Amino acid sequence: PILVVNFGSQYVQLIARRVRELGIYSEIVHWDTPIDELKEKEPYGLIFSGGPASVYAKDAPLPPKDIYELGVPILGICYGLQVIAHQLGGKVEKSDHQEYGRARLKVVKRDKIFEGIPDEFDVWMSHADKVAQLPDGFETLAVSDNSPHAVIASRERKIYGFQFHPEVVHTVYGRELLSNFVYGVCGAERNWEMGDFISEKIEEIRNIVGNAQVIAALSGGVDSTVASLLVHRAIGDRLHCFFIDHGLLRLGEREEVENNLRALGLPLKVVDASELFLERLKGVEDPEEKRKIIGNTFIEVFEREAKGVERAEFLLQGTLYPDVVESAGIKGSAKIKTHHNVGGLPQRMHLKLIEPFRELFKDEVREIGKLLGIPKEILGRHPFPGPGLAIRIIGEVNREDLEILKKADRIFIEELKKNGFYDRIWQAFAVLLPIRSVGVMGDVRTYEKVIALRAVESTDGMTADWYRFPYDFLDHVMRRIINEVRGVGRVVYDVSSKPPSTIEWE
Ligand code: XMP
Repeated sequence: PILVVNFGSQYVQLIARRVRELGIYSEIVHWDTPIDELKEKEPYGLIFSGGPASVYAKDAPLPPKDIYELGVPILGICYGLQVIAHQLGGKVEKSDHQEYGRARLKVVKRDKIFEGIPDEFDVWMSHADKVAQLPDGFETLAVSDNSPHAVIASRERKIYGFQFHPEVVHTVYGRELLSNFVYGVCGAERNWEMGDFISEKIEEIRNIVGNAQVIAALSGGVDSTVASLLVHRAIGDRLHCFFIDHGLLRLGEREEVENNLRALGLPLKVVDASELFLERLKGVEDPEEKRKIIGNTFIEVFEREAKGVERAEFLLQGTLYPDVVESAGIKGSAKIKTHHNVGGLPQRMHLKLIEPFRELFKDEVREIGKLLGIPKEILGRHPFPGPGLAIRIIGEVNREDLEILKKADRIFIEELKKNGFYDRIWQAFAVLLPIRSVGVMGDVRTYEKVIALRAVESTDGMTADWYRFPYDFLDHVMRRIINEVRGVGRVVYDVSSKPPSTIEWE
């Protein structure tokens, strides 16, 4: 693989993904991973990520120095470049002019890292420190207005450093630069194709499972659907899928999911537990409390259902690589929300986990789904939170409000699809607010509920920006909701980004 050494960059996953897009398997490793562990992975090369620290800060993350003796090529990006300069005897200092955003890069010495790339192009910078003096054996290959050493290299040792970020789209030749590094400098060979991944995984699952049975809780979402189909290919009907309807789904969603999954040939049991969930949510207003109740009830229902499966030894989960990185990642981050999953299950039920996508990104799972023949409509579905509409009704959940929200949500989604917006948006939904507002309808005073619409663009749900709809579209949706949904007297559009707001309201 190519190993991406993580110094705390917000772009670390993006770097790994870019390398995989070039056809080479890449993994993210923590900056203080012992040398022996790195060696065992037999990397083609290392990429040092950026990071928020300064190399001269007291507890700046610095890798063990013998990393430079491994003899594998290294590319340092931003902070990664500064780490190289600092550890190999150069000098890094605070820059008089910080550089954020677009900058013009000028190549001063041609090299194979610039193969097929012109002498001048735009790159994306984001740094406050700069290299002031090169280590011995290094030379400057490119400069920018504020970075006299924007690209440095020791060609003999195959160590390169970029002050800018090749992984972001704003760096015009970013893909080519990374390709030149992994193929040209590291001499890597293509080893990452989704087709191979599928056949290898199927083999692996067969070996692990043997004659036992596997159970899975399906949500109808992309990850669990693709994971189930893959396992089904491997072991057939020894996979047992459960779809638990907690009564907090969108209008018609249960039928839609059921049809989708059956059409894929998955052995499915649908469990209607909505009464139980709604009963337990009565009178509960606190968001975290609601999440906990839903999570625990889900586990309870699933556990009860799964008891009927004899010799169930494995639980299938659609865990993705970002979840793995995050849970092992930079420590000390604050808990924002209790995300619902079946995390407590395996220990309680003495089940072993099968997580075929532990090393994959979401877009790779979509690609596998495509190769397995899953229709576009399923793969393109917006994410839907485990606790469902319960966290989109602010405050207490009751049947009447659920009906209102379902209808408003249906109209919004329907119009998104009709007008070609659905596929351009990461996620869109309606939220029912716990306030009433005065209106006038047919000369009569009304005092009714408020619906907030939310639509965001995002690549991974970690950050998000609100979607800029044409006013006419919003106007049309507002009219339909107020005319068609009894009990709603006002519609507002949410223009908050994440951060500081989250995508969901609770
Ligand atoms: P937030 O609201 O934290 O949401 O910005 C980020 C993404 O996660 C989804 N989300 C959840 N998904 N269980 C889930 O499976 C949850 O409890 C949950 N809460 C939020 C949210 O819809 C968005 O895609």
